[in-house]
Amino acid sequence: MPLDIVVGAQWGDEGKGRMVDLFAEKASIVARYSGGDNAGHTVTVGEQIFKLHLVPSGLARPHTIGVLGNGVVVNPNTLLKEIKQLEEGGVSVSPDRLKISPAAHLITPAHRALDAAQEAMRGKDSIGTTMRGIGPAYMDKTARHGIRVAEMLDEEAFADRIEAHIKAANRLLTGIYDAEPLDAKVVAAEYLAYARILTPYIADTSRMIGEALQVGEKVLAEGAQGTLLDLDHGTYPYVTSSNPTAPGALIGLGVGPTWVNEVIGVAKAFQTRVGEGGFPTELDGEMATQLRGTGTNPWDEFGTTTGRPRRVGWLDLVLLRYAMRVNGFTHLTLTKMDILSGINPIRLCVGYKRNGVVYPDLPLGTYQMDAYYPVYEDLPGWEEDIQSAQKWEDLPVKCQNYVLRIQDVVGAPVGWISVGPEREQMVRMAELE
Ligand code: IMP
Repeated sequence: MPLDIVVGAQWGDEGKGRMVDLFAEKASIVARYSGGDNAGHTVTVGEQIFKLHLVPSGLARPHTIGVLGNGVVVNPNTLLKEIKQLEEGGVSVSPDRLKISPAAHLITPAHRALDAAQEAMRGKDSIGTTMRGIGPAYMDKTARHGIRVAEMLDEEAFADRIEAHIKAANRLLTGIYDAEPLDAKVVAAEYLAYARILTPYIADTSRMIGEALQVGEKVLAEGAQGTLLDLDHGTYPYVTSSNPTAPGALIGLGVGPTWVNEVIGVAKAFQTRVGEGGFPTELDGEMATQLRGTGTNPWDEFGTTTGRPRRVGWLDLVLLRYAMRVNGFTHLTLTKMDILSGINPIRLCVGYKRNGVVYPDLPLGTYQMDAYYPVYEDLPGWEEDIQSAQKWEDLPVKCQNYVLRIQDVVGAPVGWISVGPEREQMVRMAELE
């Protein structure tokens, strides 16, 4: 029972958390491999609702061990808050249930301040980041002066490192960005306190995962963000600073490709995006409100991390097929299918057009995507409420046709369809081994 990867097929917020929750049933380890507390998962355990950004959402299952892999950037403040939140809700997050890679990098207040300063400097070209310091933390990593989790093990040297890091960042903040400096000693003392709590959580997570795979246990790699936010494959520069795509799981956990069993691409039955950047099938007006919801329900389209209303649009099969190529999905999951009930017709983007020429795939990946116009295929919608559907035959034929058309264009079988917010509201056509 090797490695299964759950990956966002769009711009994040596809509902990966609930698929991880479903698949975690059989997993012994659930591991985050990229990003940091820019992600947002709402996890329900019994009557309790947890809003998580960093801790793997699969940890809510009591038999699992959670991992923050080397590809993750860890904000210790967020981490401790989440540990507290879960513990208070009756979910144990002791050091034997959560392991952090020594090679993961730390996010500091300097990274957050730089994120805000850089966004302000970009002005109208801002990316619309989550302001969690993600970009600057990965910049330090690739510049080879980032602070790794392992450094917390040597308290004295760690405090000095944090102080020096803040002082260096202050030179950028004040000299380039005209922003306020941080108090290096205060931050160093704060981080020393975090280190004292977090050191028992540090473990060789790559080895742990390798050993689990060797003895046939299932390991679930829990994606954050989504394919189109990938630093290399996404809609650059309106992307995050890590690799949320499936190959990123291998680098971000320290596992070889031969262990991969399933790559499950999670896509909404329509499409959403938060932050700036191209979105050719974007809608506004009444249809947008219908797809987005009004914000009264937790599953309406408002960001878990930032509360921002999400941009919404028709499902883009050109981009989904692109996601299929860069991830190699073995199965697709379609979420929020119930939201499409009563919409007629339902549009699917099946190509792009520029200067009278229709392209089934974008000629240069997502480069200059905005210079093309979506080509739509209209499918008849269905009126029925599908929230109680449990199996394929329970879905109206028009809904089945919508799914079949997606499957056909993308080239991966649809294994699961979510038809409502509750755990059981899921049509299952496939089972993971
Ligand atoms: P950053 O990751 O905070 O640097 O933000 C870069 C872009 O990724 C922005 O457009 C964010 O809105 C977007 N983003 C980051 N994390 C998520 C997520 O978990 N869901 C959806 N969008 C995200």
